Amino acid sequence: MKIIVANWKMNGNFEFADKFVEEINAVDSKNTIVVCPPTALLCRFHSFRYYIGAQNCYCEEYGAYTGENSPKLLKEAGCEYILIGHSERRHIFQETDDLIFKKWQAAIAQNLTPIVCIGEKSCDRHNWKQAISTQLNSFLKKDLHSSIFAYEPVWSIGTDLVPRFDEIETIFEFIRDLLRATVPLLYGGSVSSQNASQLLNYARMDGLLVGRASLKINEFKRILIQ
Ligand code: PGA
Repeated sequence: MKIIVANWKMNGNFEFADKFVEEINAVDSKNTIVVCPPTALLCRFHSFRYYIGAQNCYCEEYGAYTGENSPKLLKEAGCEYILIGHSERRHIFQETDDLIFKKWQAAIAQNLTPIVCIGEKSCDRHNWKQAISTQLNSFLKKDLHSSIFAYEPVWSIGTDLVPRFDEIETIFEFIRDLLRATVPLLYGGSVSSQNASQLLNYARMDGLLVGRASLKINEFKRILIQ
């Protein structure tokens, strides 16, 4: 059984969410499916038969943090998973490794499953070990039994460029050695129905994080039934 996570980013609307829920509810998949819509659409997922997740959270429970959502509130809204440290959060919103680690702690404290995103930028492509080690540094020697990690090379997100399988294999091995834990490890970056089955058949891959392809219902269905 694999974990398939859909990240809608800032896309979708009420009408699309309703159609998506209806159509994906009709799919019988042996995989664990998690959909992360924008926060304002979580209320349309009450009848969803699979899991929902948030795309982000803040690291405090309550307070004067205009525009933010706490893991506690997201849990109340039905989320069981939270994406933490997605590359768009890191690079557009300047989230630091330190803040990402605090968000991870806050999610764990609410019994949510954090999906921690890591991955090198294109300028670090030849220096990926350094980039990934820095992002993972705070997580070393922590209890990771209820966490998921997603390797998403930044240069692959939204570009239709996917690393070679042997490259993914080498990087996965490096991440697993570093974390010294058997955490589920997903791949994300230009996943489509064309490459999903090949990616999933790679035995040590625990699942996929899907962006654009999760916004086309038929395309996403093809990924789910791999
Ligand atoms: P993409 O996005 O599948 O559109 O490349 C993946 C992601 O950002 O999680």
